[in-house]
Amino acid sequence: MQINAMNSKAVPAILLSLLLMAIVYYYLSQPSSVSSRVIVSPCPTSCPTSEPKDRVPADVIPTGYVFHLETPDQSLAVTAHLKYSQPSIVKGRTDVVAVTPWLAPIVWEGTFNPVLLDSIYKPKKISIAVTVFAVGKYIMFLKNFLETAEQHFFVGFNVHVYVFTDRPKEVPEVKMADGRQLTVRLVPSSKRWQEISARRMELIQKLIDEQLRKNSDYIFCLDVDSKFHDRWGTESLGGLVAVIHPGYYLDNRSKFPYERRSASKAYVADGEGDFYYCGGAFGGILEEVYLLASTCRFNFEEDAKNGIEAAWQEESHLNRYMWINKPSKVLSPEYLWQDFKARNPEVKTIRFSGVIKNYADIRPNV
Ligand SMILES: *[C@@H]1O[C@H](CO)[C@@H](O)[C@H](O)[C@H]1NC(C)=O
Repeated sequence: MQINAMNSKAVPAILLSLLLMAIVYYYLSQPSSVSSRVIVSPCPTSCPTSEPKDRVPADVIPTGYVFHLETPDQSLAVTAHLKYSQPSIVKGRTDVVAVTPWLAPIVWEGTFNPVLLDSIYKPKKISIAVTVFAVGKYIMFLKNFLETAEQHFFVGFNVHVYVFTDRPKEVPEVKMADGRQLTVRLVPSSKRWQEISARRMELIQKLIDEQLRKNSDYIFCLDVDSKFHDRWGTESLGGLVAVIHPGYYLDNRSKFPYERRSASKAYVADGEGDFYYCGGAFGGILEEVYLLASTCRFNFEEDAKNGIEAAWQEESHLNRYMWINKPSKVLSPEYLWQDFKARNPEVKTIRFSGVIKNYADIRPNV
């Protein structure tokens, strides 16, 4: 009797647990886009969703993201493993520095193995968002940018290009490979290019909020008046990624065109700062770039309230930000050269380069 009574209670309980286990198994066995991602959220409890009211956003330092780099194809027989040349810890490039004083890699040709890196990242099914601003006459650069990106930028990976423009009808048709797509986002035209440049940060912030958290792991913000000449790929991935400006990397930092007036929120004092970084290319994981964009926007608006405009607008604010918040990966000037500059011997390849242009023809004001 007792046993029977127990059984009649136990049966639904067992069925319920079996059902729960089935549900759990179902979810675990799904090819979930979340679990295949590289990134563990940098701020699990308190991601800033809007600018903090009581402090400068740069005070919030995101920590804790994890890059788990795993040897590909371990489950296959040893003969099927990817074979690559033995890494050395005593031989390598000697003409350039490949690490910063805070131990972030500086990416130069010859410091990484592209095949190895791609096969590490490929199974993670990462998605890379790209923003590009083609406002006013800058639309003329878009075709070349998009076509060369197809040939060199994260080839074989999921790439989603977001084109911000006031001339949507002039966005060229460019054939994109599988897994790659383009979205046009409308922006109002502007009379001053400085203003266009300032609004970029706000638009990047909005894009991350409205779109990217759903579908992207990394973001790169690139200048449209440039094109790709050689590989730009997984070697560039990192938490916060900055590119060394090609115009100043041999100079003493006293010559860097940082904002030098202490009244500006972009101020960098004499004898301070690390490198001079490009405003025309930066990136990283979403939360890092979100924080960068919201901080630069906040500081830019503070400056505007005080009637001051930093020497190189957004680029000045970015340089101040990158001095305070050290990038976790630094890309050498290979990653944003300038077409009018002769190539220096340490630059073994040019991957991305600003095209020669006449500012008077394309900017609404000079
Ligand atoms: C840069 O210039 C400053 C001031 O002229 C000088 O004191 C410093 O040693 C220079 N740094 C380098 C690395 O040459």
